[in-house]
Amino acid sequence: MTLRRTVASIAVAAALLCTSAAAQQPTTPQPSAAEHPGRAVVTAKCFQCHTDAMFRDARQDRRAWEAAIYRMIGRGGLWTAEEIKLMADYLGTEFGVRRE
Ligand code: HEC
Repeated sequence: MTLRRTVASIAVAAALLCTSAAAQQPTTPQPSAAEHPGRAVVTAKCFQCHTDAMFRDARQDRRAWEAAIYRMIGRGGLWTAEEIKLMADYLGTEFGVRRE
């Protein structure tokens, strides 16, 4: 076996090890709506002024949620572009348009 091939097979073995270790990891977060990273941001930021009762029944797409977030900025909210993106992603997922 050449050195090149040995290195290549070590790399393959390492990649396989990593993959199986990750698959066995029970705490690996699955991207579900409940664990969406934007959820914590929404709870931390939106709940400063009102609870989700204000928007729990609303159903709209991500763009419309982003617009709602900008309305809240007009009312005094102060957030980074990254926070706005995470919140719009989360709201568009959890409170998106129902497809039935
Ligand atoms: C700085 C205070 C403040 C923050 C923070 C805030 N809101 Fe609001 N929000 C308001 C006020 C004031 C109203 C109007 C309440 C009323 O009409 O009684 C409102 C109303 C709303 C409404 C209904 C009216 C509309 O314009 O659509 C939605 C939806 C809403 N908020 C979503 C959010 C979301 C999502 C967040 C987090 C990104 C958020 N709010 C954060 C102050 C805030």
